[in-house]
Amino acid sequence: MKPSNSTLASLTQNLVVLLFIFTFCAVSSSSSHIENFLDCLPQHSDPSSSISQTVYTPENPSFSSILKAYIRNLRFNTSSAPKPLAIVTPLDKSHVQASVICAKTNEIELRIRSGGHDYEGLSYVSSNPFVLLDMFNFRSIDIDLANETAWVQSGATLVAPRTDPNLFIRVESKVIREGKKTVEVSFIALYLGRASDLVQLVNKEFPLLGLRHNDTQELSWLESSLNPPLGFNYEKHKSDYVKTPIPKVGLEALWKKMLELENITLQFNPYGGKMGKIPKTATPFPHREGTLFKIQYLALWNDDSQEFTDRNLRGMKEMYDFMAPYVSKNPREAFLNYRDIDIGTNANKSLAFALDYFKENVPRLLKRS
Ligand SMILES: *[C@@H]1O[C@H](CO)[C@@H](O)[C@H](O)[C@H]1NC(C)=O
Ligand SMILES: *[C@@H]1O[C@H](CO)[C@@H](O)[C@H](O)[C@H]1NC(C)=O
Ligand SMILES: *[C@@H]1O[C@H](CO)[C@@H](O)[C@H](O)[C@H]1NC(C)=O
Ligand SMILES: *[C@@H]1O[C@H](CO)[C@@H](O)[C@H](O)[C@H]1NC(C)=O
Ligand SMILES: *[C@@H]1O[C@H](CO)[C@@H](O)[C@H](O)[C@H]1NC(C)=O
Repeated sequence: MKPSNSTLASLTQNLVVLLFIFTFCAVSSSSSHIENFLDCLPQHSDPSSSISQTVYTPENPSFSSILKAYIRNLRFNTSSAPKPLAIVTPLDKSHVQASVICAKTNEIELRIRSGGHDYEGLSYVSSNPFVLLDMFNFRSIDIDLANETAWVQSGATLVAPRTDPNLFIRVESKVIREGKKTVEVSFIALYLGRASDLVQLVNKEFPLLGLRHNDTQELSWLESSLNPPLGFNYEKHKSDYVKTPIPKVGLEALWKKMLELENITLQFNPYGGKMGKIPKTATPFPHREGTLFKIQYLALWNDDSQEFTDRNLRGMKEMYDFMAPYVSKNPREAFLNYRDIDIGTNANKSLAFALDYFKENVPRLLKRS
């Protein structure tokens, strides 16, 4: 791994922490603050890479297209959503450093947008005056096969956690209507190796699936790691972690609940394997040994009416309440990348939500060095 990339990776982790600290302080701002912010940037960045070419203010004709380029959830693609005072699209790590320093000295809130997973729009919408630090230019992925490590920069959109060295299976259950309403359960797998070996492996370990060669598709590693475009929807997501197997009666009740609510999809992502071997405190991510799988709840709809939004949000809440007995408790853990504003925010200065995402790592993450 290149030292410059590792520096950048740890730098962006620090930025997440800074973001928490910033949104704690009640921030006041005015137009002079943003002018001072813009004047400040060149003073704190590497002169060999001009920072001004990476800054977009609302007067710039590209401002709106840059802002919208990474808005995936149509719920936040509205003209009434508050817009940033400026967007910085760093090309160099000194641009990131300058943005943080200048935002802090000028008391402007900084929102940081990385990959595509901001389900609540928190990285590009704020009720306070803010600057958007948009990391989309940092999307390199460096693989070091000898050390078995990969550095993924924060703007990259790759999702393929593998729990086993070669096989990752995600299970997805959703309601389908083919005449009668039923719950369809799909097994979606990524396997590092040839299709024929996969068919053999799956038929040995999961014979009931009856996998055939024509159910599989061979891709290069690179093709398999690129997210297909997701399309645009109105969306709500939530997450849970499961520590003890859900009993059969629980699963049966779950299928019934899904049929009743109709439009809530569940994805089960296995943990364990290498994920479980990394100590809980090695990185901010705490969902390690003892975690069987993560559930993602998804509601996707394509109608912009308030009635549909309300109905889907209500359905989601009902499913989440229903699942409480089967998932982690005290705290009820959640996956940071599936941002869920129902868990809480730091608006009331409570850190309860941060415990759900980071557990015992919270005090260490908030410590100023
Ligand atoms: C987002 O809203 C703008 C109008 O402000 C519209 O032109 C654009 O098509 C919308 N994006 C999507 C993906 O629908
Ligand atoms: C593995 O990582 C170490 C430390 O970052 C580095 O010094 C070494 O060169 C790497 N090994 C290979 C084969 O790249
Ligand atoms: C695979 O082949 C079987 C039997 O020929 C067929 O029923 C099935 O639809 C095929 N599956 C796919 C994904 O093409
Ligand atoms: C589920 O979505 C469909 C299609 O959008 C809609 O017709 C139906 O009313 C929804 N069901 C519920 C319970 O919200
Ligand atoms: C603050 O928010 C947390 C959840 O984030 C909630 O548990 C707590 O009751 C709230 N406190 C107040 C005083 O509103």
